[in-house]
Amino acid sequence: NNRIPMVAGNWKMNGDRYLVEQFSKGLKTQQLTCSVVICPPSVYLPLFSGHDFSLGAQNVSHLENGAHTGELSVAMLKEVGSSHVIVGHSERRESQQESSELVAKKAQQAVEHGLVPIICVGEPLDVREQQTVETYIAEQINALTDLLSVEALAQCVIAYEPIWAIGTGKTATPQQAQEVHAFIRRTLNEHAAGLGDGMRLLYGGSVKADNAKELFSQPDVDGGLIGGASLKLEDFIAICQAAN
Ligand code: G3H
Repeated sequence: NNRIPMVAGNWKMNGDRYLVEQFSKGLKTQQLTCSVVICPPSVYLPLFSGHDFSLGAQNVSHLENGAHTGELSVAMLKEVGSSHVIVGHSERRESQQESSELVAKKAQQAVEHGLVPIICVGEPLDVREQQTVETYIAEQINALTDLLSVEALAQCVIAYEPIWAIGTGKTATPQQAQEVHAFIRRTLNEHAAGLGDGMRLLYGGSVKADNAKELFSQPDVDGGLIGGASLKLEDFIAICQAAN
């Protein structure tokens, strides 16, 4: 079953050697039934040791190698211990003008060379207010289904992160999260029978220890992508426990 719950921590541009050490030693996942992935800044990936959770990067190039100053390839990220990679986070879609087409290329490159992409989708506030969320999310999902094969898509994880809920303390209600997750699953199922039913869909946006359980207990929510609360070991452990 692909839909074992997953909790992924996105440290964003935060953390240091000390936090790496603290998580390596303190985050013991043997008692947890969920998959745990920590996504630190990529330079810290090789510093983790003695940990029993998976590692992910926060971005990757859609290209294999070559003259691309400042970029990191899938092979490089694998070499320093990552098994996962976040692609298409809204912060990058916005600040680096990453289009849905580019995000799809990154996801494709990741799957092709053996990293599991955690692909972020999600609408800004004005889209939520205009009640056009499904159209907006469908465009992001269609860019994926246009490029990736069904077999490749089946290996991806999708994270729904409403932009208005990221870092704002304003989480989507469990019902709002469930509605969009069900829509994403339906859209994937319409693309290929059963595809959506087998894929892990995470919710992200102000998930905290005290709201995680209710969000994760929604039928189409298979865990979370955690920003701020993934920087505090105790809070992060509590969120992982909520996914059990
Ligand atoms: O990738 C994580 C998300 O952007 C959520 O961040 O938990 O700080 O709202 P947050």
